[in-house]
Amino acid sequence: MSVRPSFRALGMALSAVALCAAAYAVSASAAPPAPVAKGDPAKGAAKYKTLCVACHKPDGSGGYKAAGNPTPNWTLKKTWDATRTDAYLRDCMTNGKIKSGMVAWGKLGTLKPQDVEDMIAHIHTIKAKAK
Ligand code: HEC
Repeated sequence: MSVRPSFRALGMALSAVALCAAAYAVSASAAPPAPVAKGDPAKGAAKYKTLCVACHKPDGSGGYKAAGNPTPNWTLKKTWDATRTDAYLRDCMTNGKIKSGMVAWGKLGTLKPQDVEDMIAHIHTIKAKAK
């Protein structure tokens, strides 16, 4: 029995991996740069007042619960553990947490990417005052 065919299979598998990596690199570099500026907390606060207070409360203390997770209490320091990154906040606002009742504002187009950044800036002002 020859070992050659298995070497050939290995070679093919490796080139398939290389092709995938190359395709990924091309798609990543082809992605347009995010057309967003640094968030404006005042603009975020204005939208927050109309769209978000019902569940997150004016002060961000949350506590609303339908099914699944309640809205977090942003006014507590302990809420701000390492998992609550800007990327996480951005993802929640964009894709929602449907099971818990958090709306996919970004996907629906209610919040544009710039609005999401403004909202993060606003939430940071609550975080800065957390006790
Ligand atoms: C109908 C109630 C409801 C409304 C309105 C709502 N949210 Fe939420 N939101 C939730 C719930 C519930 C969660 C918790 C989701 C989970 O952890 O599964 C959540 C989570 C979040 C999170 C993740 C935060 C964290 O610390 O875990 C962000 C950010 C957020 N909401 C922003 C917003 C913004 C901005 C608005 C207004 C545009 C908004 N939400 C409006 C219910 C709501």
